[in-house]
Amino acid sequence: MSSGSAGARRSGRLFEWLDRRLPIRAFLDSQLTGYYAPKNLNVWYYFGVLALLLLAAQIATGLSLAMHYKPGEATAFDSVEYIMREVPWGWLIRYAHSTGASLFFVVVYLHMFRALLYGSYRAPRELLWVLGVLTYLALMAEAFMGYVLPWGNMSFWGAQVIVNLFGTVPFVGPELVEWIRGDYAIADAILGRFFALHVIAVPLVLLLLVGLHLLALRTAGSNNPDGIEIKERRDAQGRPLDGIPFHPYHTLKDLFSVAVFLVIFAAVVFFAPAFGGLFLEPANFEPADPLSTPPHIAPAWYFAPYYAILRAVPDQRLGALAMLLAIVSFLFLPWLDRSRVRSIRYKGRLARAALAAFAISFIGLGFAGLQPPGPVQLCLARVFSLIWFAWFWLMPIHSKLDRTKHVPARVRHRRAAGV
Ligand code: HEM
Repeated sequence: MSSGSAGARRSGRLFEWLDRRLPIRAFLDSQLTGYYAPKNLNVWYYFGVLALLLLAAQIATGLSLAMHYKPGEATAFDSVEYIMREVPWGWLIRYAHSTGASLFFVVVYLHMFRALLYGSYRAPRELLWVLGVLTYLALMAEAFMGYVLPWGNMSFWGAQVIVNLFGTVPFVGPELVEWIRGDYAIADAILGRFFALHVIAVPLVLLLLVGLHLLALRTAGSNNPDGIEIKERRDAQGRPLDGIPFHPYHTLKDLFSVAVFLVIFAAVVFFAPAFGGLFLEPANFEPADPLSTPPHIAPAWYFAPYYAILRAVPDQRLGALAMLLAIVSFLFLPWLDRSRVRSIRYKGRLARAALAAFAISFIGLGFAGLQPPGPVQLCLARVFSLIWFAWFWLMPIHSKLDRTKHVPARVRHRRAAGV
């Protein structure tokens, strides 16, 4: 008997031993080989698994950073410098974490756009979508608090602007700001609480939300670029005709996307970690200084569209409200879209033009949010804000007026589909 077959028998026995104590086989059968996902998932379906990868990577690199980082007005900035210069491979861990944060948002924005393209937020996936939006909100809170931790000058002034926004809450605003700061100024107290929230509380919330998001996904099943429910047509064994086993087909496809993504990730970490000032801003290489306001306080690029909306409204209270509404509008999408079809492939010119205008307004607002205030910036921000809100809140009208196409009963061959 060869040593190879003895080894295989031993691992088989180990598997049997484990399976009698944990439902491993039942789990693999129901979630991998026995789970049928649509056969026509395209590249837009890579971003979910990449978001999972980034969540794991951020937790791993964040854990290493937390071992050397020291929260506190007097220590935070220096401890980050220490990580960069003295801790073995510290620069790599920190750049992987800062690059991971920005790429997380790139991936999540593309993941969300896919849902807009193919109508993945519509019934029966409303809850899946809502859980996604809540994950996005938690991710924004996580990123904002992480941004404050290095205690650079932009961390300080960014925190100043954002925390002051809570002052616009009617009646309790000033008290609320003081309560959040734990002080009369942005200082030691807020740094300590942001550190605790960033490393423990919000990651736990994120893990819980992502777990529920995946549970809802497995319950409703994946949508696909044709927007057709594959569960409705099955073979004699009850398997969806337009589905293929998740493993090995989708797992291998996902593995390919992970490999390509890691090359891009490494290229940014090694060759352009600051990414022209977008991933790490120049002002944040200087320590926090309450006496020196940077000439232009700009948020991280992934918050820039909302910041542009905030500045587009002259009244600060209304601006903060508009910014909040711009974000939470996503929650209502499943109930605003009245189109007869789900996927953009079968929508008409009006729906396509509306989605294109929304995508352009997102980029335009992002650009305006990163510019210093001025008449051109203000004009751009106002026009694009109007488009942003019109896309959401006029959707019951424009999605209904749109002339849709006939939806086939089965998913189409990729080449015939085109989009
Ligand atoms: C940490 C963040 C997130 C993780 C780890 C995550 C993970 C995933 C995974 C693994 C899938 C299945 C694969 C795929 O369809 O790409 C998925 C699907 C989905 N996600 Fe997320 N997601 C995240 C954030 C979001 C956000 C912010 C939204 C929306 C606001 C969202 C909405 C959806 C929808 C609608 C689907 C189903 C798409 C379809 O079947 O067509 N997700 N997500």
